[in-house]
Amino acid sequence: MAVLLTGGLGYIGSHTAVELLNSGEEIIILDNLSNCKREVADKIREITNKDFKLYIADLLNRADIEKIFEDNSISEVIHFAGLKAVGESCEKPLEYYHNNITGTLILLETMRKYGCNKIVFSSSATVYGNPKTVPITEDFPLSTTNPYGTTKLFIEQILQDTVKAYPEWSCINLRYFNPVGAHSSGKIGEDPNGIPNNLMPYINLVAAGKLDHLNVFGNDYDTKDGTGVRDYIHVVDLSLAHLKALEKLRNMQGIEVYNIGTGEGYSVLDIVHAFEKANDLTIKYEIAPRRVGDIATCYADATKAKVELGWKATKSLEDMCKDAWNYTKNNIK
Ligand code: NAD
Ligand code: UD1
Repeated sequence: MAVLLTGGLGYIGSHTAVELLNSGEEIIILDNLSNCKREVADKIREITNKDFKLYIADLLNRADIEKIFEDNSISEVIHFAGLKAVGESCEKPLEYYHNNITGTLILLETMRKYGCNKIVFSSSATVYGNPKTVPITEDFPLSTTNPYGTTKLFIEQILQDTVKAYPEWSCINLRYFNPVGAHSSGKIGEDPNGIPNNLMPYINLVAAGKLDHLNVFGNDYDTKDGTGVRDYIHVVDLSLAHLKALEKLRNMQGIEVYNIGTGEGYSVLDIVHAFEKANDLTIKYEIAPRRVGDIATCYADATKAKVELGWKATKSLEDMCKDAWNYTKNNIK
């Protein structure tokens, strides 16, 4: 029996693949290469010294997805595949709804056809919209501000309804906070196309001399230094949460939701200074206007994951900064 990872060559999927293989799981990866490179598969094999089946396939292609379920014995699915750029989702909403939602529907219908009824889904803290207070617990009201976030909310709802209608199903929605960092080998990491939107990849390109300086989006928020506060989590810690979720999924029925964050908030300037200290570098930055749609503060209460999954983040901000830079400097072209 194998665990199918949709989007398994992407940033979070590839790190989770490594941890699953290291723990002795059999995995199958499906990816359409829309936001990753095929070589990532070789890197996963190099790091783990283990092999797995890889399908270059699109979730929107029902025949290809059915063939994968026909030819393999798949016990659970971890569903990472999706488009994830907030700004782009506002420019191309139909593409985002089609890829993320239709793709998920085809996946769920195929799982149902082949009797596979266990799924872990990559949701996001974005479903909390602009939270009234922090830390955020799983029972906070949900809302979104962009099509990307709405796809996450809709998919969570689709999964709720599916599990309610078919009692043999079980599902875990993991709401990730801000994943950063890379595998300590420096072989896999975050590799965004073009100019990054997210803070950590942007800082890395400034450090590499590819971008002149970081624009700090606003220093007049109601936070300790006026810059935005987020819950950054090391991608390896995040990956390990999937192993715990899988363990729980195998022994439960129904649906559960977990925040996956460290529970600690760091400001933009905290990140800049931690990156400088960890890597003995200087990051040039300028204060710029607030970015539209940004919120002041967002961090998790991750108690539920600790109590029910036995999972807790263990890596420090220094680890996140060191590992991110180690990957960038080894892979920058
Ligand atoms: P990623 O883009 O690196 O990985 C997603 C992978 O899915 C890519 O390799 C892409 O090629 C593949 N893919 C996309 N559409 C597909 C389709 N129709 N068929 C097959 N493959 C397809 O993104 P990531 O950062 O690894 O994120 C993984 C998941 O976690 C996504 O669903 C994302 O929305 C969610 N998430 C990410 C973050 C983050 O900050 N990285 C935060 C919260 C939630
Ligand atoms: C963004 C997405 C969110 C997604 C998350 C993780 C938006 C509005 N939200 O969240 O949906 O789940 O990424 O991928 O895009 N910053 C700068 N300068 C930069 C980049 C960022 O100052 O060049 C600041 C931001 O204002 C923010 C913090 O750094 O305060 C983190 O930004 P980012 O990495 O983009 O993540 P989020 O905005 O939290």
